[in-house]
Amino acid sequence: MGDMVLGGRYELVEKLGQGGMGTVHRGVDRRLRRTVAVKLLSSVLAHDPQSRARFQREAHAAAALNHPAVATIHDVGEEPHPDGPRPYLVMEYVQGATLAEVLHDGPLSVVDAVNAACAVLDALRHSHECGIVHRDIKPSNIMLTGPDTVKVLDFGIAKAFTETATRITGSGAAIGTPAYLSPEQINGSEIDHRADLYAMGCLLHELLTGQPPFRGESSFAIMHQHLFAAPEPVSRLRPRIPPAVEAVILRALGKDPKERYADAGQMRAALVDALTQASLPTLQATAPAPTAPAPTAPAPPVTRTGGRTALRDRFRPSLRPSADSALALLGCLLALLCARGRLVDTAHFGWVAVAAGVAGLVTLPWSTRLACVVSWGPVAEAVAVNSELRRAYAGWHHSYVAIAALLALAAACCLVSAARGQGHGRGAGALVAFWFSATASIWYFLDDLHKLFVFYLLLTLVAVAAVSWEAIGLVRHRAGQADTGRPVDEA
Ligand SMILES: Nc1ncnc2c1ncn2[C@@H]1O[C@H](COP(=O)(O)OP(=O)(O)OP(=O)(O)O)[C@@H](O)[C@H]1O
Ligand SMILES: [Mg+2]
Repeated sequence: MGDMVLGGRYELVEKLGQGGMGTVHRGVDRRLRRTVAVKLLSSVLAHDPQSRARFQREAHAAAALNHPAVATIHDVGEEPHPDGPRPYLVMEYVQGATLAEVLHDGPLSVVDAVNAACAVLDALRHSHECGIVHRDIKPSNIMLTGPDTVKVLDFGIAKAFTETATRITGSGAAIGTPAYLSPEQINGSEIDHRADLYAMGCLLHELLTGQPPFRGESSFAIMHQHLFAAPEPVSRLRPRIPPAVEAVILRALGKDPKERYADAGQMRAALVDALTQASLPTLQATAPAPTAPAPTAPAPPVTRTGGRTALRDRFRPSLRPSADSALALLGCLLALLCARGRLVDTAHFGWVAVAAGVAGLVTLPWSTRLACVVSWGPVAEAVAVNSELRRAYAGWHHSYVAIAALLALAAACCLVSAARGQGHGRGAGALVAFWFSATASIWYFLDDLHKLFVFYLLLTLVAVAAVSWEAIGLVRHRAGQADTGRPVDEA
Protein backbone atom coordinates (compact mmCIF):
# COMPACT_ATOMS: atom_id res chain seq x y z
CA MET A 1 0.00 0.00 0.00
CA GLY A 2 2.84 2.34 0.94
CA ASP A 3 4.12 2.61 -2.64
CA MET A 4 0.73 2.94 -4.36
CA VAL A 5 0.60 6.37 -5.92
CA LEU A 6 -2.42 7.57 -7.87
CA GLY A 7 -2.00 10.06 -10.67
CA GLY A 8 1.70 10.36 -9.78
CA ARG A 9 0.63 12.49 -6.84
CA TYR A 10 -1.54 10.83 -4.19
CA GLU A 11 0.32 8.28 -2.12
CA LEU A 12 -1.99 5.82 -0.34
CA VAL A 13 -0.77 5.31 3.20
CA GLU A 14 -3.42 3.39 5.10
CA LYS A 15 -6.84 1.88 4.42
CA LEU A 16 -9.50 3.70 6.44
CA GLY A 17 -12.50 1.68 5.49
CA GLN A 18 -14.47 -0.07 2.83
CA GLY A 19 -17.96 0.62 1.59
CA GLY A 20 -20.15 -0.73 -1.16
CA MET A 21 -18.58 1.47 -3.81
CA GLY A 22 -14.91 1.06 -3.07
CA THR A 23 -12.24 1.59 -0.48
CA VAL A 24 -11.21 4.75 1.35
CA HIS A 25 -7.55 5.37 2.18
CA ARG A 26 -5.64 7.97 4.10
CA GLY A 27 -3.16 9.40 1.66
CA VAL A 28 -0.63 12.14 1.17
CA ASP A 29 -0.79 14.68 -1.61
CA ARG A 30 2.89 14.79 -2.60
CA ARG A 31 2.54 18.09 -4.40
CA LEU A 32 0.79 20.08 -1.67
CA ARG A 33 2.21 17.92 1.14
CA ARG A 34 -1.05 17.50 2.96
CA THR A 35 -3.04 14.56 4.24
CA VAL A 36 -6.03 13.65 2.12
CA ALA A 37 -8.63 10.91 1.97
CA VAL A 38 -8.77 8.98 -1.30
CA LYS A 39 -11.83 6.97 -2.32
CA LEU A 40 -10.84 4.37 -4.88
CA LEU A 41 -13.94 3.10 -6.60
CA SER A 42 -14.51 -0.46 -7.65
CA SER A 43 -13.68 -1.03 -11.33
CA VAL A 44 -16.82 -3.20 -11.61
CA LEU A 45 -18.92 -0.20 -10.73
CA ALA A 46 -17.17 2.07 -13.22
CA HIS A 47 -17.08 -0.44 -16.06
CA ASP A 48 -18.54 1.66 -18.82
CA PRO A 49 -17.14 4.98 -20.00
CA GLN A 50 -20.53 6.65 -19.61
CA SER A 51 -20.74 6.12 -15.86
CA ARG A 52 -17.11 7.19 -15.48
CA ALA A 53 -17.88 10.40 -17.35
CA ARG A 54 -20.93 10.90 -15.14
CA PHE A 55 -18.74 10.37 -12.07
CA GLN A 56 -16.36 13.10 -13.26
CA ARG A 57 -19.30 15.43 -13.85
CA GLU A 58 -20.87 14.78 -10.45
CA ALA A 59 -17.51 15.14 -8.71
CA HIS A 60 -16.97 18.50 -10.42
CA ALA A 61 -20.42 19.65 -9.30
CA ALA A 62 -19.84 18.42 -5.73
CA ALA A 63 -16.41 20.10 -5.68
CA ALA A 64 -18.19 23.43 -6.02
CA LEU A 65 -19.82 22.95 -2.61
CA ASN A 66 -18.26 25.20 -0.05
CA HIS A 67 -19.60 24.62 3.43
CA PRO A 68 -17.95 23.77 6.75
CA ALA A 69 -20.21 20.74 7.15
CA VAL A 70 -19.39 19.29 3.71
CA ALA A 71 -16.19 17.30 3.20
CA THR A 72 -14.42 19.20 0.42
CA ILE A 73 -13.54 17.42 -2.80
CA HIS A 74 -10.00 18.25 -3.96
CA ASP A 75 -9.51 16.19 -7.09
CA VAL A 76 -10.86 13.38 -9.22
CA GLY A 77 -9.02 11.00 -11.53
CA GLU A 78 -8.67 7.49 -12.96
CA GLU A 79 -6.12 4.83 -12.23
CA PRO A 80 -5.34 2.17 -14.87
CA HIS A 81 -6.30 -1.33 -13.72
CA PRO A 82 -6.30 -4.69 -15.56
CA ASP A 83 -10.11 -4.85 -15.15
CA GLY A 84 -10.59 -1.35 -16.47
CA PRO A 85 -9.75 2.11 -15.18
CA ARG A 86 -10.66 2.75 -11.54
CA PRO A 87 -11.95 6.22 -10.80
CA TYR A 88 -10.81 7.84 -7.60
CA LEU A 89 -11.86 10.85 -5.62
CA VAL A 90 -9.49 12.89 -3.49
CA MET A 91 -11.17 14.67 -0.63
CA GLU A 92 -10.53 16.42 2.63
CA TYR A 93 -9.27 14.04 5.32
CA VAL A 94 -11.75 14.25 8.17
CA GLN A 95 -10.80 13.34 11.72
CA GLY A 96 -13.52 12.02 13.95
CA ALA A 97 -15.94 9.15 14.13
CA THR A 98 -18.79 8.36 11.76
CA LEU A 99 -22.28 8.41 13.23
CA ALA A 100 -22.35 4.66 12.52
CA GLU A 101 -19.42 4.26 14.91
CA VAL A 102 -21.01 6.59 17.47
CA LEU A 103 -24.18 4.48 17.36
CA HIS A 104 -22.19 1.41 18.41
CA ASP A 105 -22.26 2.95 21.89
CA GLY A 106 -26.06 3.16 21.78
CA PRO A 107 -28.65 5.79 20.83
CA LEU A 108 -27.98 9.48 21.42
CA SER A 109 -29.72 11.82 23.82
CA VAL A 110 -32.54 13.83 22.25
CA VAL A 111 -30.52 17.06 22.25
CA ASP A 112 -27.44 15.35 20.75
CA ALA A 113 -29.47 13.65 18.05
CA VAL A 114 -31.21 16.90 17.14
CA ASN A 115 -27.87 18.77 17.18
CA ALA A 116 -26.32 16.29 14.77
CA ALA A 117 -29.41 16.31 12.54
CA CYS A 118 -29.44 20.12 12.45
CA ALA A 119 -25.77 20.21 11.45
CA VAL A 120 -26.44 17.72 8.62
CA LEU A 121 -29.50 19.73 7.55
CA ASP A 122 -27.26 22.83 7.33
CA ALA A 123 -25.01 20.98 4.89
CA LEU A 124 -27.99 19.68 2.92
CA ARG A 125 -29.57 23.14 2.74
CA HIS A 126 -26.38 24.41 1.13
CA SER A 127 -26.06 21.51 -1.30
CA HIS A 128 -29.75 21.63 -2.26
CA GLU A 129 -29.43 25.33 -2.97
CA CYS A 130 -26.54 24.44 -5.27
CA GLY A 131 -28.78 21.87 -6.97
CA ILE A 132 -27.07 18.79 -5.53
CA VAL A 133 -29.07 16.00 -3.91
CA HIS A 134 -26.93 13.69 -1.80
CA ARG A 135 -29.03 10.51 -2.29
CA ASP A 136 -27.06 8.43 0.21
CA ILE A 137 -27.51 10.10 3.61
CA LYS A 138 -26.77 7.47 6.26
CA PRO A 139 -24.77 7.23 9.49
CA SER A 140 -21.57 6.01 7.79
CA ASN A 141 -21.55 9.04 5.48
CA ILE A 142 -21.60 11.54 8.35
CA MET A 143 -18.55 12.17 10.49
CA LEU A 144 -18.80 13.81 13.85
CA THR A 145 -15.94 16.28 14.13
CA GLY A 146 -16.89 17.93 17.42
CA PRO A 147 -19.80 17.96 19.85
CA ASP A 148 -21.94 20.09 17.54
CA THR A 149 -20.17 19.80 14.21
CA VAL A 150 -20.30 17.26 11.42
CA LYS A 151 -18.87 16.67 7.95
CA VAL A 152 -21.09 15.05 5.40
CA LEU A 153 -19.19 12.71 3.06
CA ASP A 154 -19.79 11.28 -0.42
CA PHE A 155 -21.70 14.09 -2.09
CA GLY A 156 -22.21 13.35 -5.77
CA ILE A 157 -21.14 9.72 -5.74
CA ALA A 158 -24.50 8.00 -5.41
CA LYS A 159 -25.99 9.83 -8.38
CA ALA A 160 -23.08 8.95 -10.64
CA PHE A 161 -23.42 5.21 -10.16
CA THR A 162 -27.11 4.62 -9.58
CA GLU A 163 -27.81 3.24 -13.05
CA THR A 164 -24.60 1.23 -13.26
CA ALA A 165 -25.23 -0.47 -9.93
CA THR A 166 -28.78 -1.30 -10.93
CA ARG A 167 -27.59 -2.85 -14.17
CA ILE A 168 -24.74 -4.83 -12.66
CA THR A 169 -26.60 -6.27 -9.72
CA GLY A 170 -29.83 -6.70 -11.64
CA SER A 171 -31.63 -6.23 -8.35
CA GLY A 172 -33.43 -3.16 -9.51
CA ALA A 173 -32.18 -1.47 -6.37
CA ALA A 174 -30.88 2.00 -6.71
CA ILE A 175 -27.53 2.65 -5.09
CA GLY A 176 -27.82 3.69 -1.49
CA THR A 177 -28.46 1.60 1.57
CA PRO A 178 -31.99 0.08 1.64
CA ALA A 179 -32.50 1.29 5.21
CA TYR A 180 -32.43 4.95 4.11
CA LEU A 181 -33.87 4.83 0.60
CA SER A 182 -36.89 6.99 -0.11
CA PRO A 183 -39.92 5.43 -1.83
CA GLU A 184 -39.24 7.47 -4.98
CA GLN A 185 -35.65 6.14 -5.15
CA ILE A 186 -37.00 2.61 -4.86
CA ASN A 187 -39.71 2.87 -7.49
CA GLY A 188 -37.51 4.80 -9.89
CA SER A 189 -39.56 8.03 -9.93
CA GLU A 190 -38.14 11.49 -10.31
CA ILE A 191 -35.95 12.40 -7.35
CA ASP A 192 -35.48 15.79 -5.76
CA HIS A 193 -33.99 17.19 -2.56
CA ARG A 194 -36.89 15.75 -0.54
CA ALA A 195 -35.33 12.27 -0.94
CA ASP A 196 -32.56 13.51 1.36
CA LEU A 197 -35.17 14.74 3.87
CA TYR A 198 -36.70 11.26 3.93
CA ALA A 199 -33.23 9.83 4.65
CA MET A 200 -32.91 12.45 7.41
CA GLY A 201 -36.11 11.09 8.96
CA CYS A 202 -34.57 7.58 8.89
CA LEU A 203 -31.31 8.93 10.32
CA LEU A 204 -32.99 10.76 13.18
CA HIS A 205 -35.06 7.68 13.97
CA GLU A 206 -31.85 5.64 14.20
CA LEU A 207 -29.97 8.27 16.25
CA LEU A 208 -32.80 8.22 18.81
CA THR A 209 -33.62 4.51 18.91
CA GLY A 210 -30.45 2.80 17.66
CA GLN A 211 -32.25 1.29 14.67
CA PRO A 212 -33.60 2.58 11.37
CA PRO A 213 -37.41 2.76 10.98
CA PHE A 214 -37.64 -0.21 8.62
CA ARG A 215 -35.74 -3.43 9.15
CA GLY A 216 -36.05 -6.82 7.53
CA GLU A 217 -34.39 -10.04 6.46
CA SER A 218 -33.70 -8.85 2.93
CA SER A 219 -33.35 -5.66 0.93
CA PHE A 220 -36.66 -6.51 -0.71
CA ALA A 221 -38.45 -6.71 2.66
CA ILE A 222 -36.98 -3.35 3.72
CA MET A 223 -37.83 -1.66 0.45
CA HIS A 224 -41.38 -3.03 0.56
CA GLN A 225 -41.85 -1.38 3.96
CA HIS A 226 -40.47 1.94 2.70
CA LEU A 227 -43.14 1.81 0.01
CA PHE A 228 -46.13 0.56 1.98
CA ALA A 229 -45.62 0.30 5.75
CA ALA A 230 -46.18 2.99 8.36
CA PRO A 231 -43.02 3.60 10.40
CA GLU A 232 -43.04 2.48 14.00
CA PRO A 233 -43.29 5.64 16.15
CA VAL A 234 -40.01 6.34 17.95
CA SER A 235 -41.89 6.78 21.24
CA ARG A 236 -42.83 3.10 21.15
CA LEU A 237 -39.14 2.17 21.14
CA ARG A 238 -38.04 4.95 23.47
CA PRO A 239 -40.99 6.25 25.50
CA ARG A 240 -39.63 9.63 26.61
CA ILE A 241 -39.10 11.12 23.17
CA PRO A 242 -40.86 14.50 22.95
CA PRO A 243 -43.98 14.10 20.77
CA ALA A 244 -42.99 17.15 18.71
CA VAL A 245 -39.67 15.52 17.73
CA GLU A 246 -41.54 12.35 16.82
CA ALA A 247 -43.89 14.42 14.67
CA VAL A 248 -40.91 15.85 12.74
CA ILE A 249 -39.62 12.34 12.03
CA LEU A 250 -43.04 11.11 10.90
CA ARG A 251 -43.45 14.07 8.56
CA ALA A 252 -39.98 13.57 7.09
CA LEU A 253 -40.89 9.92 6.50
CA GLY A 254 -43.93 10.80 4.39
CA LYS A 255 -44.26 8.34 1.48
CA ASP A 256 -45.14 11.15 -0.89
CA PRO A 257 -42.47 13.87 -1.11
CA LYS A 258 -45.27 16.45 -0.92
CA GLU A 259 -46.09 15.27 2.63
CA ARG A 260 -42.56 16.06 3.79
CA TYR A 261 -40.95 19.41 4.63
CA ALA A 262 -40.47 21.70 1.67
CA ASP A 263 -36.73 22.03 2.30
CA ALA A 264 -33.92 21.31 4.73
CA GLY A 265 -34.20 24.75 6.38
CA GLN A 266 -37.84 24.12 7.20
CA MET A 267 -37.10 20.73 8.71
CA ARG A 268 -34.29 22.22 10.78
CA ALA A 269 -36.61 24.97 12.06
CA ALA A 270 -39.23 22.34 12.95
CA LEU A 271 -36.65 20.39 14.94
CA VAL A 272 -35.54 23.43 16.90
CA ASP A 273 -39.21 24.31 17.60
CA ALA A 274 -39.85 20.74 18.69
CA LEU A 275 -37.13 20.94 21.30
CA THR A 276 -38.32 24.29 22.54
CA GLN A 277 -41.84 22.90 22.93
CA ALA A 278 -40.43 19.92 24.77
CA SER A 279 -39.69 22.25 27.69
CA LEU A 280 -35.99 22.64 27.02
CA PRO A 281 -36.23 26.38 27.64
CA THR A 282 -32.50 27.05 27.61
CA LEU A 283 -32.19 26.24 23.94
CA GLN A 284 -30.43 29.12 22.24
CA ALA A 285 -30.50 28.28 18.62
CA THR A 286 -32.97 29.43 16.08
CA ALA A 287 -33.25 27.97 12.66
CA PRO A 288 -31.90 30.06 9.81
CA ALA A 289 -34.60 31.57 7.63
CA PRO A 290 -35.36 29.01 4.93
CA THR A 291 -35.14 31.66 2.25
CA ALA A 292 -31.75 32.99 3.35
CA PRO A 293 -28.92 32.78 0.80
CA ALA A 294 -26.55 29.82 0.90
CA PRO A 295 -24.41 30.21 4.00
CA THR A 296 -20.70 29.67 4.10
CA ALA A 297 -20.88 29.04 7.83
CA PRO A 298 -23.29 26.70 9.59
CA ALA A 299 -26.23 28.07 11.51
CA PRO A 300 -25.68 28.13 15.25
CA PRO A 301 -25.90 24.71 16.82
CA VAL A 302 -28.71 23.69 19.10
CA THR A 303 -27.17 23.81 22.54
CA ARG A 304 -28.24 24.09 26.11
CA THR A 305 -26.53 26.78 28.12
CA GLY A 306 -24.32 25.24 30.73
CA GLY A 307 -25.61 21.85 29.67
CA ARG A 308 -23.55 18.79 28.90
CA THR A 309 -24.64 16.26 26.41
CA ALA A 310 -23.51 12.72 25.69
CA LEU A 311 -21.96 13.79 22.38
CA ARG A 312 -20.13 16.61 24.07
CA ASP A 313 -18.82 14.05 26.48
CA ARG A 314 -17.17 12.14 23.64
CA PHE A 315 -14.84 15.08 23.27
CA ARG A 316 -14.36 15.71 26.95
CA PRO A 317 -13.10 13.73 29.93
CA SER A 318 -15.22 10.63 30.33
CA LEU A 319 -15.60 8.22 33.18
CA ARG A 320 -17.87 5.87 31.31
CA PRO A 321 -17.11 2.25 32.22
CA SER A 322 -15.56 0.24 29.42
CA ALA A 323 -13.16 -2.67 29.04
CA ASP A 324 -10.35 -0.15 28.47
CA SER A 325 -11.13 1.91 31.56
CA ALA A 326 -11.40 -1.29 33.66
CA LEU A 327 -7.97 -2.29 32.38
CA ALA A 328 -6.54 1.14 33.19
CA LEU A 329 -8.08 1.12 36.67
CA LEU A 330 -6.70 -2.34 37.33
CA GLY A 331 -3.26 -1.11 36.21
CA CYS A 332 -3.43 1.81 38.66
CA LEU A 333 -4.42 -0.41 41.57
CA LEU A 334 -1.72 -2.96 40.74
CA ALA A 335 0.89 -0.20 40.46
CA LEU A 336 -0.01 0.97 43.98
CA LEU A 337 0.05 -2.64 45.16
CA CYS A 338 3.49 -3.13 43.59
CA ALA A 339 4.76 -0.14 45.56
CA ARG A 340 3.51 -1.57 48.83
CA GLY A 341 4.60 -5.09 48.15
CA ARG A 342 8.27 -4.16 47.66
CA LEU A 343 8.37 -6.46 44.72
CA VAL A 344 11.43 -4.76 43.26
CA ASP A 345 14.08 -4.34 45.83
CA THR A 346 15.45 -0.87 45.09
CA ALA A 347 15.05 2.40 46.94
CA HIS A 348 13.13 4.26 44.24
CA PHE A 349 10.86 1.67 42.73
CA GLY A 350 8.17 2.00 45.38
CA TRP A 351 7.91 5.76 44.86
CA VAL A 352 7.95 5.42 41.07
CA ALA A 353 5.16 2.85 41.28
CA VAL A 354 3.08 5.08 43.59
CA ALA A 355 3.62 8.06 41.26
CA ALA A 356 2.64 5.95 38.24
CA GLY A 357 -0.47 4.60 39.98
CA VAL A 358 -1.59 8.09 41.04
CA ALA A 359 -0.77 9.56 37.61
CA GLY A 360 -2.81 6.78 36.03
CA LEU A 361 -5.79 7.53 38.29
CA VAL A 362 -5.53 11.26 37.54
CA THR A 363 -5.29 10.80 33.76
CA LEU A 364 -7.91 8.04 33.59
CA PRO A 365 -10.87 10.41 32.99
CA TRP A 366 -9.05 12.01 30.03
CA SER A 367 -7.38 9.07 28.41
CA THR A 368 -7.63 5.40 29.28
CA ARG A 369 -4.70 4.73 26.96
CA LEU A 370 -2.46 7.18 28.80
CA ALA A 371 -3.57 5.76 32.16
CA CYS A 372 -2.77 2.24 30.91
CA VAL A 373 0.65 3.24 29.63
CA VAL A 374 1.65 4.96 32.87
CA SER A 375 0.22 2.48 35.36
CA TRP A 376 1.02 -0.81 33.67
CA GLY A 377 4.73 0.06 33.29
CA PRO A 378 5.75 -0.59 36.92
CA VAL A 379 3.43 -3.59 37.08
CA ALA A 380 5.05 -5.20 34.06
CA GLU A 381 8.48 -4.41 35.47
CA ALA A 382 7.61 -5.95 38.83
CA VAL A 383 6.23 -9.03 37.14
CA ALA A 384 9.28 -9.38 34.93
CA VAL A 385 11.65 -9.10 37.87
CA ASN A 386 9.66 -11.43 40.07
CA SER A 387 8.00 -14.07 37.98
CA GLU A 388 10.76 -16.62 37.29
CA LEU A 389 13.27 -15.62 39.91
CA ARG A 390 11.08 -15.34 42.96
CA ARG A 391 9.13 -18.47 42.36
CA ALA A 392 12.25 -20.53 41.82
CA TYR A 393 13.64 -19.10 45.02
CA ALA A 394 10.62 -18.95 47.29
CA GLY A 395 8.58 -21.79 45.93
CA TRP A 396 4.83 -21.91 45.95
CA HIS A 397 3.01 -19.12 47.78
CA HIS A 398 -0.66 -18.23 47.88
CA SER A 399 0.08 -14.57 47.12
CA TYR A 400 1.38 -15.68 43.71
CA VAL A 401 -2.01 -17.18 42.97
CA ALA A 402 -3.56 -13.79 43.61
CA ILE A 403 -1.04 -12.04 41.35
CA ALA A 404 -1.48 -14.63 38.61
CA ALA A 405 -5.26 -14.33 38.91
CA LEU A 406 -5.05 -10.53 38.63
CA LEU A 407 -2.86 -10.85 35.55
CA ALA A 408 -5.27 -13.35 34.05
CA LEU A 409 -8.08 -10.85 34.71
CA ALA A 410 -6.04 -8.14 32.96
CA ALA A 411 -5.50 -10.53 30.03
CA ALA A 412 -9.26 -11.16 29.83
CA CYS A 413 -9.93 -7.37 29.84
CA CYS A 414 -7.37 -6.94 27.02
CA LEU A 415 -9.08 -9.67 25.02
CA VAL A 416 -12.51 -8.07 25.47
CA SER A 417 -11.07 -4.70 24.49
CA ALA A 418 -9.42 -6.19 21.39
CA ALA A 419 -12.66 -7.93 20.41
CA ARG A 420 -14.66 -4.71 20.82
CA GLY A 421 -12.14 -2.73 18.75
CA GLN A 422 -12.07 -5.36 16.00
CA GLY A 423 -15.06 -3.96 14.09
CA HIS A 424 -13.40 -0.55 13.89
CA GLY A 425 -10.05 -1.88 12.72
CA ARG A 426 -8.59 -1.30 16.19
CA GLY A 427 -7.69 -3.59 19.05
CA ALA A 428 -4.22 -4.70 17.96
CA GLY A 429 -2.61 -2.88 20.91
CA ALA A 430 -4.98 -4.58 23.31
CA LEU A 431 -4.05 -7.96 21.82
CA VAL A 432 -0.37 -7.27 22.44
CA ALA A 433 -1.21 -6.27 26.01
CA PHE A 434 -3.26 -9.46 26.32
CA TRP A 435 -0.22 -11.57 25.44
CA PHE A 436 1.99 -9.75 27.92
CA SER A 437 -0.41 -10.22 30.80
CA ALA A 438 -1.52 -13.71 29.81
CA THR A 439 2.00 -15.11 29.49
CA ALA A 440 3.09 -13.35 32.67
CA SER A 441 0.11 -14.92 34.42
CA ILE A 442 0.99 -18.39 33.12
CA TRP A 443 4.66 -17.96 33.93
CA TYR A 444 3.81 -16.90 37.44
CA PHE A 445 1.46 -19.70 38.11
CA LEU A 446 2.68 -22.91 36.57
CA ASP A 447 5.82 -24.97 36.32
CA ASP A 448 7.92 -25.25 33.17
CA LEU A 449 6.22 -28.12 31.39
CA HIS A 450 2.70 -27.02 32.12
CA LYS A 451 3.24 -23.41 31.26
CA LEU A 452 4.48 -24.26 27.77
CA PHE A 453 1.54 -26.57 27.24
CA VAL A 454 -0.93 -23.92 28.45
CA PHE A 455 0.77 -21.31 26.26
CA TYR A 456 0.48 -23.53 23.16
CA LEU A 457 -3.14 -24.25 24.00
CA LEU A 458 -3.90 -20.56 24.47
CA LEU A 459 -2.07 -19.63 21.26
CA THR A 460 -4.11 -22.18 19.31
CA LEU A 461 -7.40 -21.07 20.89
CA VAL A 462 -6.73 -17.37 20.32
CA ALA A 463 -5.58 -17.98 16.74
CA VAL A 464 -8.67 -20.09 15.97
CA ALA A 465 -10.92 -17.46 17.57
CA ALA A 466 -9.25 -14.65 15.60
CA VAL A 467 -9.50 -16.55 12.29
CA SER A 468 -13.17 -17.39 12.94
CA TRP A 469 -13.85 -13.79 13.88
CA GLU A 470 -12.28 -12.52 10.65
CA ALA A 471 -14.14 -15.15 8.61
CA ILE A 472 -17.49 -14.26 10.23
CA GLY A 473 -16.78 -10.57 9.54
CA LEU A 474 -16.01 -11.37 5.89
CA VAL A 475 -19.12 -13.52 5.45
CA ARG A 476 -21.29 -10.81 7.09
CA HIS A 477 -19.71 -8.15 4.92
CA ARG A 478 -20.38 -10.17 1.76
CA ALA A 479 -23.90 -11.00 2.90
CA GLY A 480 -24.45 -7.29 3.58
CA GLN A 481 -23.25 -6.45 0.06
CA ALA A 482 -25.45 -9.14 -1.44
CA ASP A 483 -28.29 -7.71 0.61
CA THR A 484 -27.78 -4.16 -0.64
CA GLY A 485 -27.34 -5.43 -4.17
CA ARG A 486 -23.88 -3.94 -4.38
CA PRO A 487 -20.92 -5.43 -6.19
CA VAL A 488 -18.09 -6.80 -4.08
CA ASP A 489 -15.03 -4.61 -4.42
CA GLU A 490 -12.21 -6.82 -5.54
CA ALA A 491 -9.50 -4.54 -4.14
N1 LIG B 1 -12.98 12.03 3.94
C1 LIG B 1 -12.76 11.08 4.84
N2 LIG B 1 -11.91 11.30 5.87
C2 LIG B 1 -11.69 10.33 6.80
N3 LIG B 1 -12.27 9.12 6.79
C3 LIG B 1 -13.13 8.84 5.79
C4 LIG B 1 -13.42 9.79 4.77
N4 LIG B 1 -14.31 9.22 3.91
C5 LIG B 1 -14.56 7.99 4.39
N5 LIG B 1 -13.86 7.76 5.51
C6 LIG B 1 -13.86 6.52 6.32
O1 LIG B 1 -13.92 5.42 5.45
C7 LIG B 1 -15.01 4.58 5.80
C8 LIG B 1 -15.57 3.94 4.55
O2 LIG B 1 -16.19 4.91 3.76
P1 LIG B 1 -17.07 4.49 2.52
O3 LIG B 1 -17.75 5.72 2.02
O4 LIG B 1 -16.24 3.72 1.55
O5 LIG B 1 -18.09 3.46 3.17
P2 LIG B 1 -19.61 3.58 3.51
O6 LIG B 1 -19.98 5.02 3.74
O7 LIG B 1 -19.88 2.61 4.60
O8 LIG B 1 -20.31 3.03 2.22
P3 LIG B 1 -20.65 3.79 0.85
O9 LIG B 1 -19.70 3.25 -0.14
O10 LIG B 1 -22.06 3.41 0.59
O11 LIG B 1 -20.50 5.26 1.07
C9 LIG B 1 -16.00 5.50 6.52
O12 LIG B 1 -16.81 4.78 7.39
C10 LIG B 1 -15.07 6.45 7.24
O13 LIG B 1 -14.67 5.88 8.47
MG1 LIG C 1 -19.45 6.58 2.44
